[in-house]
Amino acid sequence: MNSNGHPAIAVEDLRKAFGDQRVLNGITFQVARGETVAVIGRSGGGKSVLLKLLIRLQLPDSGSIHVADQEVTKVDDRQLNEVRKKIGFLFQQAALYDSLTVEENVAFPLSRHSNMATQEQEKKVRELLGEVGMDQDRAKWPSQISGGMQKRVGLARALALDPEILLFDEPTAGLDPITAEEIGKLIADLKQKHQMSAIVVTHDVHGASAYSDRMLLLHNGNIKAEGSFEDLKSSKDEFVSRFFGYGLR
Ligand SMILES: Nc1ncnc2c1ncn2[C@@H]1O[C@H](COP(=O)(O)OP(=O)(O)OP(=O)(O)O)[C@@H](O)[C@H]1O
Ligand SMILES: [Mg+2]
Repeated sequence: MNSNGHPAIAVEDLRKAFGDQRVLNGITFQVARGETVAVIGRSGGGKSVLLKLLIRLQLPDSGSIHVADQEVTKVDDRQLNEVRKKIGFLFQQAALYDSLTVEENVAFPLSRHSNMATQEQEKKVRELLGEVGMDQDRAKWPSQISGGMQKRVGLARALALDPEILLFDEPTAGLDPITAEEIGKLIADLKQKHQMSAIVVTHDVHGASAYSDRMLLLHNGNIKAEGSFEDLKSSKDEFVSRFFGYGLR
């Protein structure tokens, strides 16, 4: 809950279809201030669509979405811009700007959306790149670094404006286990230090158990299960426990 008592994110009866393919079938959940929720589910299950709806890159067919106290399906463009400034978003594909260097990518939100002086921006960019272990590569182009490195730069860029809310789409996919664990630690630290609220979409359920407060399992357009890693892995539902690799034991 934030200072006015509202959750950071509240989704109610959210529905989204593409043609006759129903992707989200009326899902309802909340994320409290300072809470990290991991969203898991099968490939093609609608996890990325859910994140895109939260920042109105797509519009739902029905349902309400409150993010940072705004109903994002109803706000005007100016208000939407204000909401987006409070959100750090990491896309599934890191989506760096090819024509900008690593450090320019991270500086981009600062020069565009903050009043920071250039020197201050440079300092902030170095700090952010340090946090994700990319400070050595700051002058490189996106094409000169690996996919995992691009992801880490995307993460640094998502954090540039000290967002209240983080939406991460598979932040650790394609990373080696050590880097993945470091990113997990970074997410946990951010929550501790800055009381950020986060939704992290991931296939790495074990990794997510280390930094998330709660997990949502999305299946066939609904929230099939919700709870801690321990709750879900010992679920009596075979699909749920199988998802965690415990079903056949
Ligand atoms: N713009 C679009 N137009 C049509 N169909 C779409 C669009 N975006 C997503 N879909 C469909 O919606 C479904 C859910 O896609 P989504 O990307 O959310 O899956 P996901 O859970 O993120 O999967 P993964 O784990 O593989 O990333 C898929 O069947 C996909 O083809
Ligand atoms: Mg996805």
